[in-house]
Amino acid sequence: MIKPVVRGIRHRYFHQATSLLRGRTMKKSSILTTAIILILTMSIIAGASGTTKPSEYGTIVINNFSQKAGLTPVVFDHWLHRAKFTCRLCHVDMLFSMRAGDTKVSAQDNMDGLFCGSCHNGNMAFDSCSKDMSDMKKCDVCHSKGKSVKKKYVFETFTAKFPKAQFGNNIDWEKAASQGLVKLVDYVEGISLERPERRMVADFTIKPKGHDVNEIIFSHKKHARWNGCEVCHPEIFAGGKKGKMKYTMDDIRKKQFCGVCHTTIAFPLEACDRCHSKKVK
Ligand code: HEC
Ligand code: HEC
Ligand code: HEC
Ligand code: HEC
Ligand code: HEC
Ligand code: HEC
Repeated sequence: MIKPVVRGIRHRYFHQATSLLRGRTMKKSSILTTAIILILTMSIIAGASGTTKPSEYGTIVINNFSQKAGLTPVVFDHWLHRAKFTCRLCHVDMLFSMRAGDTKVSAQDNMDGLFCGSCHNGNMAFDSCSKDMSDMKKCDVCHSKGKSVKKKYVFETFTAKFPKAQFGNNIDWEKAASQGLVKLVDYVEGISLERPERRMVADFTIKPKGHDVNEIIFSHKKHARWNGCEVCHPEIFAGGKKGKMKYTMDDIRKKQFCGVCHTTIAFPLEACDRCHSKKVK
């Protein structure tokens, strides 16, 4: 049995998938394409967790050491941190991995001013780990998995004025940034290196190979605001020249290429139209 909520979501995906083809006459070939796309859509969403709450999209539980040390696992929210800092700052300068659980942050690292401790040092933000376990209340704000901890930031209040979008956090982060509702810090003294100004690359379209679907408009300008250049080059997109790297929707679904971010943190794959936005005549 499909639960009603899931069925509702499925219906929306269906609608979205067919809308990729809207505006074109249904020739035999495009009926076939529609069928292929619907199948593809189902396979894209099969791996997606359509029931993740907007406040929990991008939330990472870190538990390499906590439980072993008798502490509650740590909960890290992207929605709050990405509203204050660039992805680049954490994922390049502060060396956080883009795979959950991969970084292996220790309490000592944090006390030495690395990782969370780069900011959570009692100066830029409240302090992180300590050898002193006498007042665990101070620890609960991070070591919070499954606990009801009173926090300063509540998702619904914090994001109330942000422009909305479907899926993921239900927030149009792109608009929020261009409207100045989020102001991203990209540099932390003593940690970040001065970087040279880079020349911006013009937007370009990516034509999906072998399928009659809308083209994708890729904007360097929109991405660089969050990611600088170094989050994507050379690790995620090594090719340099556009069109050099070959990948498909299935690779993206498997968290590669665009899927590194657009499955877990940036708006997810269900939002077909936001990528496939250029109508093919
Ligand atoms: C800013 C967030 C934050 C706060 C606040 C915080 N921690 Fe941690 N702590 C972490 C993270 C992240 C880890 C790594 C979690 C893991 O992999 O299990 C960690 C891990 C630990 C570990 C296990 C790892 C090790 O290397 O021994 C201990 C013990 C620990 N913290 C103690 C504390 C104590 C005691 C407090 C309160 C005084 C505290 N922490 C407050 C973020 C925090
Ligand atoms: C304040 C620091 C910080 C900021 C800002 C930040 N991240 Fe993260 N990110 C983390 C941490 C911490 C993890 C977990 C790493 C670990 O567990 O080893 C993480 C994990 C990830 C992952 C892996 C998710 C998964 O489920 O495997 C991705 C992808 C990611 N971040 C993308 C982004 C993007 C895109 C942005 C900007 C929109 C961003 N991050 C902003 C700290 C940050
Ligand atoms: C780039 C700086 C930076 C890094 C890195 C960072 N944080 Fe934060 N974090 C902040 C700031 C700033 C705040 C807001 C603090 C405030 O307003 O009191 C915050 C807030 C939080 C809060 C919300 C507390 C509340 O009461 O709502 C939690 C939980 C938290 N961070 C956990 C973490 C964990 C866990 C890590 C590491 C995995 C981490 N942070 C890494 C800067 C950072
Ligand atoms: C979100 C990821 C992302 C970010 C961030 C990013 N790029 Fe790219 N870049 C791409 C992709 C995707 C391509 C096309 C590569 C392909 O198709 O193989 C590309 C291609 C390029 C190309 C080749 C363009 C051409 O016409 O062949 C240059 C030059 C480039 N990027 C420079 C930059 C610079 C400079 C920055 C920082 C301002 C930057 N990129 C930030 C994803 C990114
Ligand atoms: C994050 C951006 C993004 C989202 C969201 C997205 N796509 Fe794609 N899609 C791409 C890119 C990039 C390609 C091009 C790969 C290539 O051919 O170079 C692509 C290719 C395709 C193709 C061509 C065949 C293939 O497998 O590569 C189809 C069909 C397709 N997408 C359908 C969809 C549908 C249906 C959805 C929504 C369920 C969707 N896409 C969501 C970026 C996206
Ligand atoms: C390093 C992480 C990362 C990678 C890789 C990445 N993106 Fe994004 N992308 C983002 C973030 C962050 C945003 C801001 C919106 C959000 O977070 O929901 C964004 C925004 C966009 C937007 C703007 C949507 C709008 O409404 O203006 C499009 C389109 C897009 N991405 C397509 C792509 C495509 C296509 C690829 C692969 C070629 C790709 N992205 C790769 C992180 C990434």
